[in-house]
Amino acid sequence: MKRVVYTRKGDLSVISLVDEQPLTAKAGEVVVEVHRAGINFADLMMRQGLYGAAPDFPFTPGYEVSGVIIQVGAGVGDKKVGDRVIAMTGFGGYSEQVVVDESRIIPIPEDISFDAAAAMPVTYATAYHMLSYLGNFQSGDTVLIHHAGGGVGTAVAQLAKALGAGIIIGTASASKRKFVESLGMRFVDKNTEDFVAICKQLTDGKGVHHALDPVGGKHLMRSYKALRSGGRVYCFGASSAVTGEKRSLMAALKMLRGMPKFDPLRMMNSNKSVFGVHMGTWKDEDVMRSHLVELSELLRAGKISPIVDKVFRYEEVAQAQKYIHDRKNRGKVLLDFSPR
Ligand SMILES: NC(=O)c1ccc[n+]([C@@H]2O[C@H](COP(=O)([O-])OP(=O)(O)OC[C@H]3O[C@@H](n4cnc5c(N)ncnc54)[C@H](OP(=O)(O)O)[C@@H]3O)[C@@H](O)[C@H]2O)c1
Repeated sequence: MKRVVYTRKGDLSVISLVDEQPLTAKAGEVVVEVHRAGINFADLMMRQGLYGAAPDFPFTPGYEVSGVIIQVGAGVGDKKVGDRVIAMTGFGGYSEQVVVDESRIIPIPEDISFDAAAAMPVTYATAYHMLSYLGNFQSGDTVLIHHAGGGVGTAVAQLAKALGAGIIIGTASASKRKFVESLGMRFVDKNTEDFVAICKQLTDGKGVHHALDPVGGKHLMRSYKALRSGGRVYCFGASSAVTGEKRSLMAALKMLRGMPKFDPLRMMNSNKSVFGVHMGTWKDEDVMRSHLVELSELLRAGKISPIVDKVFRYEEVAQAQKYIHDRKNRGKVLLDFSPR
């Protein structure tokens, strides 16, 4: 069976394929034949050595897959060979097979494709965790989301709508205007427009209830400024540390230096909150599982519907990551590992 490996820290040339023996399940585990593996922005940052929570090199990235159970270990409860499932792999998902604890599996609802299933876990669980679980989202709440045309961005737009959002303001590159608008967001050109001013303008000068910031650095303080009294900013990424396929230490340092130091007294006086969010280091699996079960229900009910932009065969993994580096993706990018 084939597996993608990051051999060392670097550009796209460090991505390699290895051939290995098929996997076997120990007690409590299942082996899943992978059909689709999700690519996340974090995978690109890990490849560049810019992601603290990654394993040592060499390793196989990949948080999430969809596929079919092909082997069940002793003592596994109600899962059986042939079941279509989503598996939360932690790492290692870019592979023809994965072995996971049965607790990290959820069934794929009937009529939901392997594509939609693999596109759902990280993006929607992150969106759900911020808006619903931490954010106490109320009908009519207003939202600011950056990278609005990407995986998490499109998930946030759909989920916020499903939760009854008021206005959803999405920033992105100019080429994504129509796409972002088609998702019901008020588009803001991230390079030429002032999103803080627009957030105030569109909310009678008050600001938004929820500002979701995956950019980091100085940008995070601007998101904080876009909040109303009682608003929440979620720091959930540091994409400004990345400039292209090659690592830029300058950009990473600039991002770190620009990170705001929030003053609790000023936060108290302005009634604003800051949440730090990292699903990769989130330890409470019961909470995560309940997010995914809830999201599966929304998926089954047609209230959310993951947008898959492009599926690359796994041999093209470098091109797939380049596609994201080049900011071309509109929604999610997946790898196809299905048997041929
Ligand atoms: N904390 C967590 O648990 C968690 C979980 C999931 C994702 N995240 C974070 O959320 C963000 C979105 O993740 P995603 O997986 O859904 O990715 P994504 O948004 O699909 O990533 C690609 C998009 O990001 C934008 N972008 C901004 N800076 C970029 C750069 N330096 N290089 C390439 N693209 C850049 C581009 O759109 P525009 O140019 O149009 O903006 C691009 O199309 C990332 O920062 C990620 O690390 C965090």
